[in-house]
Amino acid sequence: MKKIHMVDVVSEYNKYSEQINKRIQNVLSSGVYIQGTEVQKLEQELSVFLNSKYTVTCANGTDALCLALRALDLKQGDEVILPPFTFVSTVEAVCLLGLKPVFVDIDRDSFLLNPALIEKNISDKTKVILPVHLFGQCCNLRQIKLIAKKYNLFIVEDAAQSIGSQCFYKKSSKDMKYSGTIGDIGITSFYPSKNLGCYGDGGAIFTQNQKLAHHIRLLANHGQEKKYVHKIVGFNSRLDALQATILRFKLSLLNTSNNKRQKVATEYNRILKSVDWITTPMESSFSEHVYHQYSIILSSKIDRNKFQKFLLNAGIPSMIYYPIPLHQQKPYKHFSNENLPVSEMLSKHIISLPIHPELEVEQIHFICDVVKKYI
Ligand SMILES: Cc1ncc(COP(=O)(O)O)c(C=O)c1O
Repeated sequence: MKKIHMVDVVSEYNKYSEQINKRIQNVLSSGVYIQGTEVQKLEQELSVFLNSKYTVTCANGTDALCLALRALDLKQGDEVILPPFTFVSTVEAVCLLGLKPVFVDIDRDSFLLNPALIEKNISDKTKVILPVHLFGQCCNLRQIKLIAKKYNLFIVEDAAQSIGSQCFYKKSSKDMKYSGTIGDIGITSFYPSKNLGCYGDGGAIFTQNQKLAHHIRLLANHGQEKKYVHKIVGFNSRLDALQATILRFKLSLLNTSNNKRQKVATEYNRILKSVDWITTPMESSFSEHVYHQYSIILSSKIDRNKFQKFLLNAGIPSMIYYPIPLHQQKPYKHFSNENLPVSEMLSKHIISLPIHPELEVEQIHFICDVVKKYI
């Protein structure tokens, strides 16, 4: 059996190295290394794939969040509602722009922002709801959209972990849309371990609004429309051509690789469902799940550190996403004086098992056998 990795980007590269090396070689000989045709084509292909009107690529997912929030022309101190159970970038972007994060707890089953708790956290300073489509599954955007409409709020979707997953976003219809394309602005990250990852840093912003798209494009490139003519204060946040050409190739594999992840999860679920000290991930009725992570909850009688060591001794890596919720982290503590019990509970009992498109059935069975032997 092959060595088990949490994420196996090397096996994926080895499998497609001929095509990828050729693409890299072409970019190297073209002399165009930042933006250019490869980046433009990637933006067009992402727009077609996601059925999104506008796509603007940038340097990474954190920048994408900053650019999205900056484009909304908010005032210092305006409030942004977001979950505390996410990667730090989500709150970082809010704070870097001088906005105030308002943490709202997540739902126990889906691990996603709980729409039932949003309204009581809205004040006259609230301007944005920032749902995070964690671990590969979209938030309940149908309900979040209704709240945003009622209070005239923007929605910025953090789809860094959910590219390619579709969500039922309308009240009484079966219509589905891709994550990142339903709110006013959506963002994603192309960090190497993401479902659509490059070989460095990269990110993208999606919107259906031409004005916002134009504003974001200016912001991401020094505020310039034409070279050396600067209309606004901007950033340097551009995607390079090498990453774009790799992403174009990997985009063509995205549906297949997301399907493979779903198959891995189905097999894990089938075997681990009967283990009474494990809660397997819930698949919600409002979204597809593309399993960026396969995260289980351990019963409180299980010592997670010991369990993790037990797995490691058998050659199985695992990760804790996330060990400390953001409202308990030093730079963000003062924004919340409330307990957020679901996030706090999950951070103590959650653990993620290896999942990636290259994980083989034999490896899944080995992992499950070892897990079951723990008790
Ligand atoms: C939920 C979430 N938001 C934002 C980001 C930021 O992306 P990046 O690492 O590309 O800056 C990440 C990824 O790492 C993420 O998981």
